[in-house]
Amino acid sequence: MAKEQLIIFDTTLRDGEQSPGASMTREEKLRIARQLEKMHVDIIEAGFPAASNGDFEAVRSVAEAIKDSRIAALCRTSDQDISRALEALKPARAGRIHTFIATSPLHMEKKLRMAPEDVIIAAKNAVRFARNGIDDVEFSCEDAGRSEMDFLCRIVETVIKEGATTINIPDTVGYNVPRQYADRICQLRERVPNSDKVIWSVHCHNDLGLAVANSLAAVIAGARQVECTINGLGERAGNAALEEVVMAVRTRQDIFPCDTRIDATHIVPASKLVSSVTGFPVQPNKAIVGANAFAHESGIHQDGVLKHRETYEIMRAEDVGWNTNKLVLGKHSGRTAFRARLKELGIEVDSEQVLNTAFTRFKELADKKHEIFDEDLHALMSEDVVTP
Ligand code: KIV
Ligand code: ZN
Repeated sequence: MAKEQLIIFDTTLRDGEQSPGASMTREEKLRIARQLEKMHVDIIEAGFPAASNGDFEAVRSVAEAIKDSRIAALCRTSDQDISRALEALKPARAGRIHTFIATSPLHMEKKLRMAPEDVIIAAKNAVRFARNGIDDVEFSCEDAGRSEMDFLCRIVETVIKEGATTINIPDTVGYNVPRQYADRICQLRERVPNSDKVIWSVHCHNDLGLAVANSLAAVIAGARQVECTINGLGERAGNAALEEVVMAVRTRQDIFPCDTRIDATHIVPASKLVSSVTGFPVQPNKAIVGANAFAHESGIHQDGVLKHRETYEIMRAEDVGWNTNKLVLGKHSGRTAFRARLKELGIEVDSEQVLNTAFTRFKELADKKHEIFDEDLHALMSEDVVTP
């Protein structure tokens, strides 16, 4: 049976940009948008046009330049916000209005200072107004992760009647755990009339380090759009990392009933681009895109990978855009990896005695240095070192 599509909605340029210190110029947004388009990201959220003239221009430029991904613009529920977003999206081949309002008791009372009934009215009017200007409208219940289920069902039912095409259930403060979050999605799909007429979307923040786990649990529960960012960039602890969501779904096709359209070979270049534009380094042990994600140092692991890479690798480094996996030479490395690296460097060692001497010197050096580089090996293998 053909797999269903899991829609990837990238919000690096909007929620990612909300990360303190990560604001981007129009040109920088354009460069990243082109890379996302090349990766076959389905929807690129380019910004929040009502936030500033600069962001309006950036959304407009992305809408002009990008033709193979849908462009989304964020707005609150006011007519002014929505009109500004519609204006910015005018040049888009395919656009989406993404309107939101908070639905948790805490946000409604303390932040919006609105009665729940008025929040429902604002949501209803916003979706109706947006649908007059565009046929693709996403509605988000901000802080849905802490909202009451009965209220969520009511507001979602209202906006579906007004023509919302995607319903997003954000865990805005990263408070949910996977089972609970998946249960929210299941309940909404079961209880809201016409729930099968819309795409259910998830948007998870990483305050407890659960953004990807929550997103994946929700996909198993029926969500078919995941909102995410490159390198997990985003407010506070960030958003769900696109590269982790995409590769988890692709690697575990035995579990997921859907797959994305992402060309994963563009993931590492995208990660490097976002890191260089924002100045936010990627931690070495970050899944998929960290420098050590496909590096092996211990002798047992290196020996295993040299014999059969699947012994310690569940994905191929090349499939996500690395040149190859990396056997890092250090104090845990064994003779097999040592000999293999020498061979790669064009250094053939015929004599076991020479290899033993060189390997002993290598271990002594590795005790003093974190990593042994190719230059170290060349020095080590110079004649006076290995000639007995
Ligand atoms: O985290 C959140 O709730 C958001 C919404 C605006 C979708 O970013
Ligand atoms: Zn968010």
